[in-house]
Amino acid sequence: MKSIPRGRFISVEGVDGAGKSTQLLWLARWLIARGIPLVRTREPGGTPLGEKLREWLLAEPMHLETEALLMFAARREHLARVIAPALERGEWVLCDRFSDATFAYQGGGRGLPREKFEALEDWVQGAGAARIEPDLTLLFDVPPEVSSARLANGRELDRFEREAADFHARVRAAYLERAAAAPDRIRVIDASGSIEAIQARLEAALPLWLDLAA
Ligand code: TMP
Repeated sequence: MKSIPRGRFISVEGVDGAGKSTQLLWLARWLIARGIPLVRTREPGGTPLGEKLREWLLAEPMHLETEALLMFAARREHLARVIAPALERGEWVLCDRFSDATFAYQGGGRGLPREKFEALEDWVQGAGAARIEPDLTLLFDVPPEVSSARLANGRELDRFEREAADFHARVRAAYLERAAAAPDRIRVIDASGSIEAIQARLEAALPLWLDLAA
């Protein structure tokens, strides 16, 4: 029997107010237009239990370690029920945030030590060759004045979005530090320009990053 090639796993990251949602929608359409079977999902969330955890995580005050552990608990469920089965079926997964967000928000933003997450990553995502992690991560990066202006301009803010400017600055710095440590996986996209300019840049770079015909 011919074995099905494993699908690709793409995650999308950025500080709150980076404009990630608009680009995600565009990216999903771009992949589907290429005939790629796609599962679109998000973190925290992506499963019935994960979506319940998301409601608490975005609204309820909690100890900062509880917050980090719930992120990973939701991720375990998500990997087991959605991400791993889709990849095994040969489908691609486009995920709005994944583990890099925990390193950036709970690590950079809240100041929890990275080693704790590395241990949890091994547990939740598997270690060595069995590990599931994104093949490509798009990090939409904007300076604080752009993200805060975008946030000020919209709906009611959640628990993370309401954090002070220095929290968001630490989240951004942690994302950029992670990208510098894994430049082949995490591609930083300057998201401060117009939507069209960002999409033109993505359109030019994605075939290369994903090893697809242009
Ligand atoms: P969203 O607004 O992009 O849907 O993400 C929800 C919030 O959850 C966002 O403010 C970032 C936060 N978050 C973390 O703090 N840690 C995580 O591991 C994830 C996945 C999200």
